[in-house]
Amino acid sequence: MPNSQMTFRQFLMQADGGKPVAGDLAFLLEDIVTACRLVSDHIRNGAFANVLGSSESTNIQGETQKKLDVIADEEFMRHCANSGRVAALVSEEVDDVHWLKEKPEAGDYLVYFDPLDGSSNVDVNLSVGSIFSIVQLAEAVTPSPEAVLRKGTEQVCAGYAIYGPSTGLVLTLGHGVHGFTQDLGTGEFLLTQPDMTVPATTSEYAINTSRAELWEAPVRRYIDECVAGKNGVRGRTFNMRWTASMVADVHRILTRGGVFLYPMDSGNASTGGKLRLMYEANPMGMIIEQAGGAASTGRARIMEVQPEGHHQRVPVILGSKDEVALIDSYHA
Ligand code: AHG
Ligand code: MN
Ligand code: MN
Repeated sequence: MPNSQMTFRQFLMQADGGKPVAGDLAFLLEDIVTACRLVSDHIRNGAFANVLGSSESTNIQGETQKKLDVIADEEFMRHCANSGRVAALVSEEVDDVHWLKEKPEAGDYLVYFDPLDGSSNVDVNLSVGSIFSIVQLAEAVTPSPEAVLRKGTEQVCAGYAIYGPSTGLVLTLGHGVHGFTQDLGTGEFLLTQPDMTVPATTSEYAINTSRAELWEAPVRRYIDECVAGKNGVRGRTFNMRWTASMVADVHRILTRGGVFLYPMDSGNASTGGKLRLMYEANPMGMIIEQAGGAASTGRARIMEVQPEGHHQRVPVILGSKDEVALIDSYHA
């Protein structure tokens, strides 16, 4: 039986509040989807192509790159450069901003991406993803590292692909959050989860508890109260899940609720946290807010943090609104 769900192209024809998405942005999104499709293929065939495992290089953040980190970055770099309106590409895996235009104009796009998120999972065949974010320039700029330091509130689009049991795509253009699944027959992404929402309350949290001895008091208090269960102040039992792939953890939260924490702790305070503001926190922040949740550093709304460098890291607390508000109140 043929699928009756809307294709990604059909979705784009009405995704701007009922109107078609602007041509330049639609082409860019189709290029990003092409990159994700190819990354998915590299991952699924990785064992045959001898591209599992680590490469010999480290990235700007001092992390050993997986071979697939490098391959995924090449796919994003190549396909996102197709559109004549992309001014710059900013990748987690590349030291410097890659300018495509010498004279960026108002209306041009800046594209930020984490080409392979959760890459430590790739060798053990667990879910990984790609995260992307798009800012549209309101004014002409001169290419410089500072020109890409945009707050999350300037994003016009954010999304991620998830390479799990199926390949999925989740996207927001500022009108809610919509989930697609790749049909392996046609290769097309079909709208399978329109209007994804995060319930305001939850009984599930995600945090790497192996760092517990490093936590600050507000995070310790929140987790201790969850762990105390029925007999503690929360009066109910909590469940814990940690995938070590932000895409997979956020996807679970978008599907069934929850709260995700990668806080600043005494082990990562010197860099301001672990996760990257522009490739991870901002796009996921926009998606979660658009789904009715909240995204905070514990002290400020993530999307209002003024970036000081494109590889900047921040504490990340996001998911069900009431839980994020409670954790914020513990920080206050
Ligand atoms: P990346 O693979 O892009 O470097 O990101 C990994 C991130 C994120 O996906 C995940 O939530 C977190 O690192 C896991 O960190 P731990 O290994 O400390 O749990
Ligand atoms: Mn990542
Ligand atoms: Mn990555």
